[in-house]
Amino acid sequence: MCGIVGAVAQRNITPILVEGLKRLEYRGYDSCGVALHVDGKLERSRSTARVAELEKQVAEAHLEGFTGIAHTRWATHGAPASHNAHPHFSRGRIALVHNGIIENHDELREELRAAGYEFESQTDTEVIAHLVDHLYTGDLFETVQLATKQLVGAFAIAVFSRDEPHRVVGARRGSPLIVGIGNGENFLASDALALAGTTNQIVYLEEGDVVDLQMQRIWIIDANGKQVEREVKTVQAHTAAVELGPYRHYMQKEIFEQPRAIADTLEGIESITPDIFGDKAYGIFKKIDSVLILACGTSYYSGMTAKYWLEAVAGVRTDVEIASEYRYRDSVPNPNALVVTISQSGETADTLAALRHAQSQGMQHTLTICNAATSAMVRECALAYITRAGVEVGVASTKAFSTQLAALFLLTLTLAQVKGRLSDEKEAAFLKEMRHLPAAITAVLALEPQIIAWAEAFARKENALFLGRGLHYPIALEGALKLKEISYIHAEAYPAGELKHGPLALVTEEMPVVTVAPADSMIDKLKSNMQEVRARGGELYVFADGDSRITTSEGVHVIRMPEHYGLLSPILHVVPLQLLAYHTALARGTDVDKPRNLAKSVTVE
Ligand code: M6R
Repeated sequence: MCGIVGAVAQRNITPILVEGLKRLEYRGYDSCGVALHVDGKLERSRSTARVAELEKQVAEAHLEGFTGIAHTRWATHGAPASHNAHPHFSRGRIALVHNGIIENHDELREELRAAGYEFESQTDTEVIAHLVDHLYTGDLFETVQLATKQLVGAFAIAVFSRDEPHRVVGARRGSPLIVGIGNGENFLASDALALAGTTNQIVYLEEGDVVDLQMQRIWIIDANGKQVEREVKTVQAHTAAVELGPYRHYMQKEIFEQPRAIADTLEGIESITPDIFGDKAYGIFKKIDSVLILACGTSYYSGMTAKYWLEAVAGVRTDVEIASEYRYRDSVPNPNALVVTISQSGETADTLAALRHAQSQGMQHTLTICNAATSAMVRECALAYITRAGVEVGVASTKAFSTQLAALFLLTLTLAQVKGRLSDEKEAAFLKEMRHLPAAITAVLALEPQIIAWAEAFARKENALFLGRGLHYPIALEGALKLKEISYIHAEAYPAGELKHGPLALVTEEMPVVTVAPADSMIDKLKSNMQEVRARGGELYVFADGDSRITTSEGVHVIRMPEHYGLLSPILHVVPLQLLAYHTALARGTDVDKPRNLAKSVTVE
């Protein structure tokens, strides 16, 4: 999704801006640009190619300056084209970049047109640039406070003026923005990662903040117009984490990092205790009578898996809702429910809005399972468990998913304990299994050559069906999402028992049917469903394990997982599905890490 970098310094900041954009590339974008204050004028360069191309353009034009802003754009209003790329200018005086969506842009555009402004893009962002120019008082900080009052929607902006050469002003409402503190220089960015290597002293701006960035000082006004001090946090540099190393793609690297990511996520867990979710966890867990999980995409599927665990092991009624639906639905609030948001980024707009919606309905017992310790999600929830997957660059989520599952299983055991449903023996046995997960995943990763052979066949298909039952139905959904996301093969997942209620009509010799088939209590039912597929000529690709007694035969291809893993089996079974999607996409030659139309962190609605 869109990314922002800004800087005010006493040195040429072009390399800092460009490097910042490179660090934000993983979020997904379709154009990029940079603007600088140069000899009393605004200068810019924009491109619909990669940031590397923009870097060349900037070097060829000798674009250098002490004050500037830069942006990666993921198109919402207006096609991915140079004239729609940010920064946007207004009358040669104002330069502005924006993340988010302005909902009243049509009304504002009409008013500004009537005031004589001409528009050269289809973006909602250009409206803000002209609005700032229109209201400009000679003091940019004051003007941005006036302008943002007229905006409806979500935004993070960075703006500077030709007439105030040593100042950048930022503002946020609904989209993240941070300030990086330097020595006699200051920075703005949509994500601290953009400033890794430049500064690790970070201020997280809050909803409604407007910041005045100058070389020697930062000045913040909050949503009520009051000057406020915000805590400066030291964040770890993520520089090493975003290196590709020996891998061909980040997604591949991240799949293979899963043993390490799970080990890190479970590090220090010697026994089950509510404290691992925060100081107030015991009191909250004692009070709650149910769980409401809110999430999007892959994180939603980890929530669906957790429902099976939470109800079966902890005996706690659990509902799982897609955040973008829940936020607008008239639901019946339960103040005694534990609201659990699950998010890799902690900045997903729909999930954040769903959390705030639940809070506004009187649901104050909130917990997030999140991979970004400093994200809005963590800041806004009463309790948190930080997964330690590390930076996930590939748009297709992999290690974030398996670490979420590990954290959600810990939540299950903790609630089971608080509700008196976890004996010491069971606790010890589950913890032992969890500690063995990294080794178990390593063994699954060794199946890669067999999966590559299957991927060759998949690459020639345009449709695929994924089946699972019980705990493994969400895993089938996740497998289908991975395949469609990066290979662009149409893939759907069904609970296998639903097959005969409709999707069986799709099954022909042309339809590969991936079946997640662990040797659990549903295996015999699943085998019957597989027969239904074979009877219609469908080709089965089965991930079996342990004693599932499924063997390779005509039209039935089997890969046997090294061991059966009981309740934790979803964490193992998702891995071959990730590899299948990755190798199929590779065979089809798609852009694995940056699939078309998608962004890593979906910070707009
Ligand atoms: O950062 P989040 O976990 O909140 O993101 C949620 C989804 O946008 C994300 O999981 C998305 O579905 C991935 N591209 C899936 O691979």
